[in-house]
Amino acid sequence: MSLFDLQGRVIVVTGALGQLGTQYCHALVAHGAKVAALDLAEPASARARDWVAAAKTQGLIYVQGNVTDRASLERAADEIGEKLGPVFGLVNNAALDSPPNAPIEENGPFETYPEQSWNRVLDVNLTGPMLCCQVFGGRMARAGKGSIVNIGSIYGQLSPPQDIYEYRRQRGETFFKPVAYSASKSGLTNLTRYLATYWAPHVRVNTLTLAGVAAGQESEFLKGYLARMPMRRMAEPDEYNGAVVFLMSDAARYMTGSNLLIDGGWSAW
Ligand SMILES: NC(=O)c1ccc[n+]([C@@H]2O[C@H](COP(=O)([O-])OP(=O)(O)OC[C@H]3O[C@@H](n4cnc5c(N)ncnc54)[C@H](O)[C@@H]3O)[C@@H](O)[C@H]2O)c1
Repeated sequence: MSLFDLQGRVIVVTGALGQLGTQYCHALVAHGAKVAALDLAEPASARARDWVAAAKTQGLIYVQGNVTDRASLERAADEIGEKLGPVFGLVNNAALDSPPNAPIEENGPFETYPEQSWNRVLDVNLTGPMLCCQVFGGRMARAGKGSIVNIGSIYGQLSPPQDIYEYRRQRGETFFKPVAYSASKSGLTNLTRYLATYWAPHVRVNTLTLAGVAAGQESEFLKGYLARMPMRRMAEPDEYNGAVVFLMSDAARYMTGSNLLIDGGWSAW
């Protein structure tokens, strides 16, 4: 257990109110970390208050912040410093994907994919982590220690296979999995490598690449997706927690610039 002990480490999780961010916050607290859960919602909003109430833990604070807005991140960093102490870790988890029920042009052919959608996704998924690294990573570098985990996706390592969405085209929709998410997550992989060497040996920076998580996906999608997935199922929401704890802990102290793939075997063939 001591190998994975995070006692006293202050760790910022962005996109903390989301499906996986919530999981990471709870797992990090359970291993002794002091967690700053950062997301867009106002602290007084029902979303933030319900989330904090459900967390039922002392080792966690909620902080409002927008990863695309450097000034808001500076404010969040100051608040975290005052309430929890110097930041040791950052999980760059906040991201946008285009949901299956997004407007038709968002999920249409590449040739007409809107530039403003591209900019919006790149802004949150790639510029956001870069700004968080500047603000929080910069503080870690000045303190001479820290760990950053950039959350990637199999669709940023490999192309989304468009044939698994064929069932949607067959039922009359012009659906293609859009390009911006993939491109943004690819960029994140090399942001990791750049900063791993830039801040070595003091601040470690790694990518954690995930495959899809069970969230009530429709059966036609599951049929195509799982036929390509060696584990033959979607991930459960808690199945990446161990890797986040590991990357934040001294068990990973020789690991930097890496891409840890937990993808159910998706990339193995
Ligand atoms: N869920 C999956 O199947 C899956 C698969 C592969 C990778 N991932 C990656 O895991 C991460 C989390 O995914 P999730 O499914 O929990 O997402 P989610 O949509 O449930 O949560 C994302 C959170 O990010 C927040 N957010 C959005 N824009 C923000 C901004 N500008 N500033 C601060 N917070 C912002 C949202 O409010 C939300 O709470 C993402 O990086 C995603 O790309 C998820």
